[in-house]
Amino acid sequence: MTTTAPRTETVPGGGSALAFPAGFLWGAATAAYQIEGAAALDGRTPSIWDTFARTPGKVRNGDTGDVATDHYHRWREDVGIMSDLGIGAYRFSIAWPRVQPTGRGPAVQKGLDFYRRLTDELLDKGIRPVATLYHWDLPQELEDAGGWPERATAERFAEYAAIAADALGDRVRTWTTLNEPWCSAFLGYGSGVHAPGRTDQVAALRAAHHLNLGHGLAVKALRAALPAEAQVSVTLNIHHVRSLTDAPADVDAARTIDGVANRVFTGPMLHGAYPADVLADTAHLTDWSFVRDGDLRTIRQPLDFLGVNYYTPTLVSAATDDAAHTSDGHRVSDHSPWPGGESVAFHRPPGETTAMGWAVDPTGLRDLLLALDREFPELPLVITENGAAFDDYVDPAGEVRDPERVAYLRGHLAAVHRAINEGVDVRGYFLWSLLDNFEWGYGYSKRFGAVHVDYATGTRTPKSSARWYARLARSGVLDA
Ligand code: FCB
Repeated sequence: MTTTAPRTETVPGGGSALAFPAGFLWGAATAAYQIEGAAALDGRTPSIWDTFARTPGKVRNGDTGDVATDHYHRWREDVGIMSDLGIGAYRFSIAWPRVQPTGRGPAVQKGLDFYRRLTDELLDKGIRPVATLYHWDLPQELEDAGGWPERATAERFAEYAAIAADALGDRVRTWTTLNEPWCSAFLGYGSGVHAPGRTDQVAALRAAHHLNLGHGLAVKALRAALPAEAQVSVTLNIHHVRSLTDAPADVDAARTIDGVANRVFTGPMLHGAYPADVLADTAHLTDWSFVRDGDLRTIRQPLDFLGVNYYTPTLVSAATDDAAHTSDGHRVSDHSPWPGGESVAFHRPPGETTAMGWAVDPTGLRDLLLALDREFPELPLVITENGAAFDDYVDPAGEVRDPERVAYLRGHLAAVHRAINEGVDVRGYFLWSLLDNFEWGYGYSKRFGAVHVDYATGTRTPKSSARWYARLARSGVLDA
């Protein structure tokens, strides 16, 4: 992914056009459980998300990924849509329980064949495949054996990474180990709003370490199996944490949350150590003795780029008794995704929100790109997810008009362009998501797609944002 400097051009009639560097990657992203369906076909067995979704009360409306967008059958149509839109790269995830159902032992060829066909079709259409190994669908058998809080899961993950690289390494040259390990560890084992739905702060911290270890072991397995030019990365949902005021206690609350949201991953992965303040903030929960000699060396592996997912900033303050009881500020509780953050209150950032209730704030993206560049100046960045949910519908003329999504994307891409102009090495952008899909605990109630999906019929309808993005992907110039 070579790049040249971005430019700003004046366009006739006023306004300005923001030209992205040549070679900038224009992509779209999805994840296996959110789109594939075919949950019990061709040897696939349940993952923790199948189990969680079937547990009453866990997912809105009792929705499951059993059928989802039926991409397992409609993959050719979906690649065709991307090709029509001029999308240059497709970030998808491989379903671990589809290729290695029990999480151990030999692979299921039918599962691998699905990804072989998909990637062949992508390459045929000139679309770069970008494969994520783990977008949250742990084989249920591995959870039954203890899941991510146990060290063995990291070892199993590396074996699965080797299987995937052996089967697809001849055609997939861009790999990501984990998607958002923060969600896997702290929503999965801390707050329990994600699968497997456990609420145990210590288990969440153990899971974070074993996800880090799994990442390091998987990078080694990928490097061993892939050609030298392959690119290997991880995707983190770096939280852009702001403090409500400049008061030292609020600034310290932001430091705490930045630690357990971001630095608990970037520390070991990129610096080779857990930050001392994270260990201190969580010392009342664990002594971290599950970190064994040599683990940090294994976790810190050279990466070709860092994937960054960004949707909205995080606003915090020190918790006061008042903050604990206001409608805006809610305080960390026992069932918290923030171990060590007991004295932090969370606030709703000001301004307009998406259908998720998330504040729209592109300055957060620019600020976090600049901060990452300051901390890791040699590491190229790729935005691996950014996008918004709105209450989209097909109008009587058969159109899906989503000007709010266009405005969201335009604002965030202008922020990316600004960061590039300020010297940050951003190589690409993947819109979340290609299709409306199963939005985890929200089921099908939230639509993030550039392409609308009618879940009763499977019919795909590109929204106006898809056409807007297609023009951008073709020209590389954003009309700001
Ligand atoms: C991210 C997930 C992705 C999607 C978006 C909205 O946290 O990686 O699967 O759900 O949020």
